[in-house]
Amino acid sequence: LVIEHIEAATRSIGFSMGSDRACGSLLQTLAASKPGGFLLELGTGTGLSTAWILDGMDENARLVSVDNDQEAVAIAHEFLSKDDRLDLRVGDANVLLDELEPDSCDFVFSDTWVGKFERLEETLALLKKGGLYIIDDLLPQPNWPVGHKEKVTDLVESLQNNSELTLTWMSWSTGIIVAVKK
Ligand SMILES: C[S@@+](CC[C@H](N)C(=O)[O-])C[C@H]1O[C@@H](n2cnc3c(N)ncnc32)[C@H](O)[C@@H]1O
Repeated sequence: LVIEHIEAATRSIGFSMGSDRACGSLLQTLAASKPGGFLLELGTGTGLSTAWILDGMDENARLVSVDNDQEAVAIAHEFLSKDDRLDLRVGDANVLLDELEPDSCDFVFSDTWVGKFERLEETLALLKKGGLYIIDDLLPQPNWPVGHKEKVTDLVESLQNNSELTLTWMSWSTGIIVAVKK
């Protein structure tokens, strides 16, 4: 299984920010709800979440994913680049965000600062009606830096107060929100 190979390669470079299988399975399921869709991932890492999303997508769906860590993306590239549904970018997520049109995405997994703690409004504007916005890492972790808990609380509150979204906060994996643009 490609996931097992990516997990092993991820451990070998000591990358500790990768998604667990519970998160991956949810991403796979939600990706399957968007046949022919245009999907976006901000923060590829080593491609763990990317592999799960690709596994859920049908043959007509497309995924663009970006990360600025060359060493991590090299693993994603090694295992996933032969999938021509995937457009894998190495660079700043801000640049990709500037390229994309509002109302163009069916699915956004925001797994880095950009699209979550930064430029949230612009990221949500990318979603089509019925589009999914997914974030994880919402449950408190011992390694969170000072002030991060408050940032997460503010983010969750701002999503919950957004009248354009319907969402569920789930105690699943590392703590996940799945939101749908109304
Ligand atoms: C939580 S990890 C992603 C993990 C991956 N999605 C997974 O679930 O396996 C966050 C990633 O964001 C990347 N990153 C941080 N700032 C970035 C930026 N401005 N542009 C692109 N990637 C960035 C880091 O290199 C890191 O790989």
